[in-house]
Amino acid sequence: MTDHQNEPAIETTEDQLLDHEYDGIQEYDNPLPLWWKAIFWGSIFFAPLYIVFFHFGPGVLPNDRYDDVMTAFYDKQAEELLALGEITDTSLDGLKMSDSMMSTSKKIYSARCATCHGVFAEGGIGPNLCDDSWLHGNRLTEIYKTIVDGVPEKGMLAWKKQLPPGQLMAMAAYVGTLQGSNPPNPKPPQGKQLDPAGMVVVEENEPGDGEPTESSTLSTGKDETGQIPVMPETNKP
Ligand code: HEC
Repeated sequence: MTDHQNEPAIETTEDQLLDHEYDGIQEYDNPLPLWWKAIFWGSIFFAPLYIVFFHFGPGVLPNDRYDDVMTAFYDKQAEELLALGEITDTSLDGLKMSDSMMSTSKKIYSARCATCHGVFAEGGIGPNLCDDSWLHGNRLTEIYKTIVDGVPEKGMLAWKKQLPPGQLMAMAAYVGTLQGSNPPNPKPPQGKQLDPAGMVVVEENEPGDGEPTESSTLSTGKDETGQIPVMPETNKP
């Protein structure tokens, strides 16, 4: 009698042996546990909220938050360096190592500098920043000074009031990283051609009189990469 009572109880359970069989293996239809289903549906509902909030809304993505924290950190460090009067080519060069500073600088370049210097720094209203010809010097401290004080009479703004101190230093380092990148449609070189150490290779390089030196194989002043191949020893070490 007890056996008889138990039978229907077994049938009403949700777990059921399904009626197919492969190689002697039978499937037991076992519903997924509630916690599993909760996570499954939970993530489906969470995903659109996350995308809308973080990718289109006010949310700050972890990478950007990291960049912000690092930029704040370097700003503080830069202020300390400035207080000590210690901005050197080496200290600026060191900033190139910071991926977060360079990615922030790249964004600032696109937002603030690209209008005049070109999206790829190939030049426009302002000079090409990728070639080795410079109006105001190619050492990072010189580039830094140009960015900080600008050349107002020539249309280059002074950025010292617009960007925080650390960012000014990072921008100089960023401009340094552009050296030798071969952007499309480069603006002809302006100023003196300098080697990486800042020594003058060609005294004057005004656009227009764009005839390069005899060692060049080209007459247009630029080859297809836009660089003037004047002296092989100007190549980076
Ligand atoms: C309104 C246009 C304009 C904007 C915006 C601008 N620049 Fe310039 N920049 C110029 C001009 C014009 C010159 C050339 C100045 C001269 O003829 O002496 C120049 C020169 C420079 C030089 C010196 C190049 C050399 O050959 O010595 C650097 C470096 C530079 N800019 C960096 C920047 C950076 C970094 C930014 C963004 C934070 C920026 N510029 C934004 C117009 C601009």
